[in-house]
Formats: sequence, structure tokens, C-alpha cells
Amino acid sequence: MKKVHLGVLGYGTVGQGVAKIIQERYEQFKEMIDVDIEIKKVLVRDLSKEREIKLDEKVFTLDYKEITENDEIDIVIELTGEIDKAYDMIVSALNNGKDVVTANKAVVSKYFEEFTCIAKEKDLNFLYEASVGGGIPIIKPLYDIVKLNRVKRVRGIMNGTCNYILSKMTEEGSGYLDVLKEAQELGYAEADPSSDVNGDDTLRKLRILSTIAFKQPIIEDEILMDGISKIKASDIKLLEKNGRVIKLIGDTWNEDGTIKSIVQPVAVFKGSYFSSVNGAFNSITVEGDMVGELKFYGSGAGMLPTANAVLTDCLDIILENQKTETHGVGCDLEVKSDTISGKFYIRYEGDNKELASYADEVLSESPYVIITKEVEFKKIKQIVSDDENTAIIRIEDGDY
Ligand code: NAP
Ligand code: HSE
Repeated sequence: MKKVHLGVLGYGTVGQGVAKIIQERYEQFKEMIDVDIEIKKVLVRDLSKEREIKLDEKVFTLDYKEITENDEIDIVIELTGEIDKAYDMIVSALNNGKDVVTANKAVVSKYFEEFTCIAKEKDLNFLYEASVGGGIPIIKPLYDIVKLNRVKRVRGIMNGTCNYILSKMTEEGSGYLDVLKEAQELGYAEADPSSDVNGDDTLRKLRILSTIAFKQPIIEDEILMDGISKIKASDIKLLEKNGRVIKLIGDTWNEDGTIKSIVQPVAVFKGSYFSSVNGAFNSITVEGDMVGELKFYGSGAGMLPTANAVLTDCLDIILENQKTETHGVGCDLEVKSDTISGKFYIRYEGDNKELASYADEVLSESPYVIITKEVEFKKIKQIVSDDENTAIIRIEDGDY
């Protein structure tokens, strides 16, 4: 029987999900695939913290090198949510000949090309299925899609926390902060939830998907971004009267040979596809020139769906199903998100003549709510800057 030792960096929501699935499926792994999987070491920050999923106290450590440099460990699973510290841990693991699996989109997004390069050079696996879409298989299918297709568009609802907040505010009239707290308690939100609600988490996921889909690095700085933190119940109600619901959507597309990429709240028609994706569910759609449009749907966050994706990557390594794919070669299209334009719902306070000059329709005067003519998103953002009292929502009439 093949014995596989795992080292787990981080034992929060996802780390404990990994342990729980291993505990529940231990006999099945042995019987069905002839593999004995054992968690050998676990990195945490606080040894005294009570953990829901119990492990032998001896496995816990405060020193990541006890895992990344440990000769007995075969696969290192990184689940800390850190960025630069996680980079050190992943590089140390790869340099010590370990296959690496992570759910951490922040570190993958920042160091995507470098990790892939090191893993390829060393003939190791670096897999990150859980980093996008939680439990939804999307990374592996996307690598398959790009084998035969030129991707025209990849877009979706990619943040469980934001979708949970928007859905609860819409369906139950719940308050923003109350639902954010619920999302944290349910284990959906990041340790710092501002990265969920400000759009960074969706941007990082979109950066990863876009890079694979368009076969060239599309980095964080090339993607425009706005989040949901300024949206109020009044915006939801006003748009609802017009038959629309708000969704935070990440969208990258090829427009006549130029790549455009943006994360923003979008008011879609009720009854449209994305309007039906609610709660912590996510959905990503991919449009290929041969296969047409494919839709991927499932739990975008949470302990077991995410841990399932992490362990599926581990099984792929153990069963030798997958090696790190090459990306970042093949295409060299210009990325020009600055020119993205649209019609926007804007709520703002006070008399702003510049904003008013873009109005096509005025929905309210106190506070001002306008629907703009077609205008560049960047232009509106420049006028609004970081004003806490202004919300911008794209009005989408297309097929969403
Ligand atoms: P979490 O609950 O905050 O757990 C993080 C764990 O990492 C904790 O056990 C913490 O230790 C440990 N840790 C953090 N920084 C550390 C450091 N510098 N040194 C040692 N240990 C450290 O996070 P999570 O929700 O499990 O998420 C883990 C990763 O998966 C994140 O990258 C997240 O974005 C990603 N992810 C999460 C979900 C989800 O639904 N939660 C879904 C998809 C992807 P202590 O417990 O001792 O504090
Ligand atoms: N915080 C993330 C979310 C976790 O809410 O989608 C899953 O990546």
C-alpha cells in the first residue's frame, strides 16, 4: 500500500475540512485506491487554540520549516491565507522537492508565473483548484478547454461572501454588516473581509482564470476593480423596482483582439442566468470558439466544498493524473481595461455637476441617483475617487 504523508500549513476552516474528509474517507482511500493518507504535521499560529476537528497534539508546529523541509512529507498543502509568508513557505516546499497544493488565491495571483516555473523546472506539481470557485472544478476543466479553443470570454460570480451578502440583502432585507458577520461565522469570508467586499478576492480569482484562459499573464494591475461595500439597501430596492438584482461579477473578454478585464457590481435582469446564482454559490462561464458557452456552478466557499477541491488536487498528485500546466505562453494580446465603458447607476450626495453631465436619466434627487449615458468606467471612478457615499453599479442589458 502506498503511504502518503501530508504537511498542512494552516488549520482554520479549510485546513480542518481537509482533516475531516481524510478522517471520514480514510478506509475508502485504503480500499479503493490502495493509499494510506496521513497528516504528518500542521502549522498554526496559536498552539493553545481549541480546534473543532481534533488531531494528535504532537502534529502541530509553529515552524513551517518543520513541514517544508521535512523528509517524511510528500505533499505540502498551503492554507494560511497569508501572502508573502505563504510565498516563503511555498518556495521552501518546492525547493525541498515537495508537491504543493494551495487554496490561497492571494499568493497564487501575486506569484503565479514564478510558482509554475519553479514547479516545472523541478518536475513537481503546483496545484490550486480550490483557489477559484471553492468547490467548483474550474481550473482543471479550463486547462482542457484551452487545448482546442480560443477563449472569447471568462466571467462569473466568484466570491461567496459578496454573493451571500447581496442575496440576503435582496431576499430578506438584511443589513449589510449583519450579513457580513454571518458570512464570517460560516467561514466564507477571508481573515480580513475587506478583501472580499472591496473586490480584491474576485480580482485575484479573475487574474488566475484569465491568465489560463487567454494563455498570457493578465496581472492584477491590468484589471479594473470596484466592490460592494458602498451598496445600500436603497440601491437594491430601487434597482429591484426596475426588474434588476445586483451581482459582483468578474469579467475578462477579447474585444477585437484586445483583452479587457473588470470586477464590478452589475445590475442584471431578474430571470437572467447570473440572477439565479444566490447565497454562497458561485458560477463561472467560459466561452470558447469551438465549444461555445460552458457554465460551472457550485459552492464557492465553505469548509467541505473547498477541502474537497484541495484533496482532489492531492489525489491527482498521488494517482499521477496531473502535472503543473504551462501557461503564459502562446498569446501576446494587448490588455487595455482602461477603455471599458458602459451605462452606470450612480448614487451620490451633494451637487456634482461633472457627474450630472453624464446623466441620461435621473431616478432620484435626494440623494442623487442617475443612470448615465455610455461612459468610460475609469472616467467615472476618477470623478468619484474613493467617496464613501457614492455607489457605482453597471447597468447590463446584455445576456447575463
Ligand atoms: P482561516 O480560517 O483564517 O485559517 C488560517 C489558518 O492559517 C489558521 O489555522 C492560522 O493559525 C494559520 N495561519 C495563518 N497565518 C499563519 C502564519 N503566519 N503562521 C502560521 N499559521 C498561520 O482561513 P481559511 O478560511 O481556512 O482559508 C485558508 C485559505 O484558503 C485562504 O487562502 C483562503 O483564501 C482560501 N480559501 C478559503 C475558502 C473558505 O471558504 N474559507 C474557500 C476557498 C479558498 P491559527 O488557527 O493558529 O490562527
Ligand atoms: N472568501 C472567499 C469567498 C472564500 O467568500 O469567496 C472562497 O474563495
